[in-house]
Amino acid sequence: MVSLRTRFLGRELSSPLVLPAGILGMSYGSLRFACDAGFGLVTSKSLSLEPRRGHEGPIVARFGGGIINSLGLCNPGIAAGLKEVDEFSAVSGSPVMVSVFAVNRGDFEELVRRACDSSAAFIELNLSCPNVMDEFGIPLAASKELVADIVEGAKKASRLPVIAKLSPNALELPAIARAAQEAGADALSLINTLGPGLLIDTAVRRPILAPCFGGISGPAVFPLALKLVYECTGRVSIPVIGMGGVSTGDEAVQMFMAGASLVGVGTAVWLSGAGVVAEIAKGIWEYLEREGFSSVMNLPKLERGNG
Ligand SMILES: Cc1cc2nc3c(=O)[nH]c(=O)nc-3n(C[C@H](O)[C@H](O)[C@H](O)COP(=O)(O)O)c2cc1C
Repeated sequence: MVSLRTRFLGRELSSPLVLPAGILGMSYGSLRFACDAGFGLVTSKSLSLEPRRGHEGPIVARFGGGIINSLGLCNPGIAAGLKEVDEFSAVSGSPVMVSVFAVNRGDFEELVRRACDSSAAFIELNLSCPNVMDEFGIPLAASKELVADIVEGAKKASRLPVIAKLSPNALELPAIARAAQEAGADALSLINTLGPGLLIDTAVRRPILAPCFGGISGPAVFPLALKLVYECTGRVSIPVIGMGGVSTGDEAVQMFMAGASLVGVGTAVWLSGAGVVAEIAKGIWEYLEREGFSSVMNLPKLERGNG
């Protein structure tokens, strides 16, 4: 009997599909919307200690391969964000992963402690922010040492499983994934947006986005995301949530074969609406049924040594 139910870090999930951080903003309503769409796990907008207004628009633009965005990490702050999470959890049995971001270890620890006082099931560390400790502003996720340091601090501060979300903009991502595991991460999420990239409005000869550049997501990043998930799962033994451009059931199955335990679907919802989640779930289900597998947990992984 085919079932999409799966297990992740000791929790039973109704579906292996995850709403990634930030896609639907941060409110009780957006969490409800995501759950009704069929996600088995929903992630909050990345929350900081204080509220952030973010950039002035336009902050999201579409192109042939997906979208670019530069929201400027706008969020209501950890206190207001966790209130929405608690309200959601009071009426829904679906687990929430609370995403947090900061620019140094101390603030990450404080955010994790606060999130642990909420109804969150998991905590995700968004490590893709610019790093104020580095004179060139290189993202935290580009440094093995900084990733390890922040994960170690977060683990000490946390009673909940900690998931490190990594950036594709780092050289040697598999080594960084390994460092996160060694520092105690319970799982990894990859990938965050690629780039940033640029789109130009030729009519006015100006960048389309007000902040000029924006992170790239959607179908254009899928082959890169798949390859990075494949490489990183070869270097770690903790579960990986694979995301980046997944928009069909077949692409989700490819993510499982590359080694992912769960699959995130973000930009596809943004581009095609919530119905895409049910279509992807149906595609996975049909593949399992046709190929004789009862669950995504026993789908065979791609053999190592290819490429
Ligand atoms: C509009 C938008 C907002 C996002 N906000 C966040 C965020 O707050 N925190 C984060 O870790 N990732 C954020 N991301 C990245 C996504 O969570 C995801 O990692 C990325 O978009 C790749 O998956 P996708 O191609 O399925 O969207 C955002 C992406 C988009 C498109």
